Amino acid sequence: KIRELGLKGAEKMAKVFGKKKVVVVGDGRVGSSAVFALFQQSWINEVGVIDVVLPGHKDENGEWVKGFNAMHNVEGDALDMNDGASFLNGNGRVVEGCDYSICDDADAVVITSGAPQKPGQTRLELLGANASIVAGVCKQLKSHLNDHCVVIVVSNPCDVLAWVAYKTLGIDSKRVIGSGCVLDSSRLKQEIGDDLGIDYRSVNATIIGEHGDSEVAAYSAASIGTTPIRQYYEEYKGISGAELDAHLEKIHYNVWHSAYDVINLKRATNYAIALSITRICKAILTDEKVILPVSVLCDKHVLGGKAEGVYLSVPSILGANGVEAIVAPEYSKEDTEAVLKSAETLRENCAKVQF
Ligand code: LAC
Repeated sequence: KIRELGLKGAEKMAKVFGKKKVVVVGDGRVGSSAVFALFQQSWINEVGVIDVVLPGHKDENGEWVKGFNAMHNVEGDALDMNDGASFLNGNGRVVEGCDYSICDDADAVVITSGAPQKPGQTRLELLGANASIVAGVCKQLKSHLNDHCVVIVVSNPCDVLAWVAYKTLGIDSKRVIGSGCVLDSSRLKQEIGDDLGIDYRSVNATIIGEHGDSEVAAYSAASIGTTPIRQYYEEYKGISGAELDAHLEKIHYNVWHSAYDVINLKRATNYAIALSITRICKAILTDEKVILPVSVLCDKHVLGGKAEGVYLSVPSILGANGVEAIVAPEYSKEDTEAVLKSAETLRENCAKVQF
């Protein structure tokens, strides 16, 4: 009863301030961490979480193992989180379901379903397993999408799977994005900030292209405060030429390798991606018009039209309508060639998907 009253209180707040809701599909390590991060935000009223009932399987001795009912997990997670709702600054509540109708009134839906990376595995190697899972989610989601909801694909390889979601849902590409290189760019800013002893908020640097092995550290468009990054290193660190190239390459190596390091240690990455999801959702739910390197469908105006039809990360303005505009600057010849190579890798992988 008390719990019910609590939920009613949240409903009342939603009526006064307008309801803001995100639904997370998939209650695995990424999904549940995202729900936990989202429900703590002051700009959200309701976080939905949805998962599937997994069928049983035979173990190595041929014994039948009863299917894991993920719905119990979802229900347990929602109860567990809501029990702590009195400690929040905001009015967030978690609602769970086994039916996609909980997406009917969502402002954003985040897809996290699918197999996670195993140690040593690339994100692209997950495509075979995860394309059909994400397509299956989208087929069920389709009839429950309202006309302003933005879909964020996090399952990897997120660029190719954002394209799969876009094709399956058949909605405006502005409303389908991949979480892309938002997390990689956070890693890059921190790596550079630590290296220079500068707050990461004064580091303007972005990873573009695939969220994966062909990602590109777009140093040609990076700056520290308002000083171009190479100039900053030359003037304040006394590093230049080939030495600086190697130094920046090492920084990018650390960024690229970070997810592999975490996976080797704990078999998954979940907390930082949960915070990245939260950052992206804030941009959409508060109509922020912030520029983030999410994965977007490139058109003929982006990268000279050479990546047209491919989902990859480039700086884009995000607001209530999803992608308001793509605002990629002109990169150096070297960075442009690298990102176009990344685009080709993604295009080849999209061609492998069978619907
Ligand atoms: C990572 C996963 C989300 O980079 O791909 O941590």
